[in-house]
Amino acid sequence: MRLSARARGMFFSTCHLYTLLSNTNDTDGVYLALAMKKKWVLASSLVLAVSLFVVLVNYLEKPYLQPILQKGFRYTWITSWQRKVARQHPGYVSVPKREPLKLSCDVCSVVSSSGQILGRGAGTEIDGAACVWRMNNAPTLRYEKDVGNRTNLRVVSHTSVPLLLHKPQHFFGPASNGTVYVVWGPRRNMSPDGNGLIYNMLRRAADDFPKARIYVTTDERMDYCDKVFKKETGRDRITSGSYLSTGWFTLILAMDICKEIRVYGMINDTYCKSDGYRKVPYHYYEVGSRDECAEYVLHESAPYGGHRFITEKTVFGKWAKVHPIKFFHPEWQLS
Ligand SMILES: *[C@@H]1O[C@H](CO)[C@@H](O)[C@H](O)[C@H]1NC(C)=O
Ligand SMILES: *[C@@H]1O[C@H](CO)[C@@H](O)[C@H](O)[C@H]1NC(C)=O
Ligand SMILES: *[C@@H]1O[C@H](CO)[C@@H](O)[C@H](O)[C@H]1NC(C)=O
Repeated sequence: MRLSARARGMFFSTCHLYTLLSNTNDTDGVYLALAMKKKWVLASSLVLAVSLFVVLVNYLEKPYLQPILQKGFRYTWITSWQRKVARQHPGYVSVPKREPLKLSCDVCSVVSSSGQILGRGAGTEIDGAACVWRMNNAPTLRYEKDVGNRTNLRVVSHTSVPLLLHKPQHFFGPASNGTVYVVWGPRRNMSPDGNGLIYNMLRRAADDFPKARIYVTTDERMDYCDKVFKKETGRDRITSGSYLSTGWFTLILAMDICKEIRVYGMINDTYCKSDGYRKVPYHYYEVGSRDECAEYVLHESAPYGGHRFITEKTVFGKWAKVHPIKFFHPEWQLS
């Protein structure tokens, strides 16, 4: 909203200018009248231009509204200008300084942690994107051929933070090579007031590794992600007894940051009902764990504490129709 306030300020100062110009006393006949007319035209155009700017900025600030207009409205200059103004993401703040995340990417590879990615040899293609995003503690070592070897950003669930801290040097030390960590979690765990268990762990990691780039999702942004779920599904996330998945937070963030999103290894909402689907481990790095579809079905029907993975995939499919999001391995047919 900061930008919007600034834009509004500009709007009012232009109105003020316009008032000043129209109030100038004009007694010296036609010539001055003509000059005034010019000024009036100038002032009106300025008001119009600034109004348009305000509308545009307001529109660009709500990524949620963009798909509605974007289809007929995707001039590259708007997109590139949008990248410039949208660099700051106030819903994500650094630990411990609480500075907003600043990041923009052209093409993003978003690598799912699903076993679907195994054996497809997509590593080189994944690494070819400007930014490579991963989730939680998904490893690259030994899986490079399938998942690539670069990592620019990780979206991490509060429950996975202890897993990262099992290998602090690997994830937060110089070897992490500037990877940005964006952690999401509920208030009770993420509170920066000393009572947030997970926040405290992150805070200590930030002390131990001052160069580590650790961000947390603000309470407002968490609420926003819930609101999006309600809006898209008609169901209240909390009263329906479910948790949003890391994939949900990842795609919402990616729609803010990436000009184009290429998701690797994510199944669609009907995959588990289709004939001859691939039985793969839920996580590619946990071979022998429960199979992905079994896990999805279990979660989808859990009365309490489950992730609505399948419902979320339906929503992703909807988004992909209006956002530049594509799905590979398996490929989604979106018309
Ligand atoms: C991984 O990194 C090296 C360079 O450090 C590169 O040569 C290799 O091809 C990369 N990609 C994959 C998919 O292993
Ligand atoms: C580390 O980051 C730099 C700059 O982004 C990049 O050029 C390099 O390939 C990265 N190295 C690894 C091992 O990811
Ligand atoms: C979803 O996946 C199944 C299995 O791969 C496929 O048959 C179906 O066409 C896909 N649907 C969409 C909308 O991509």
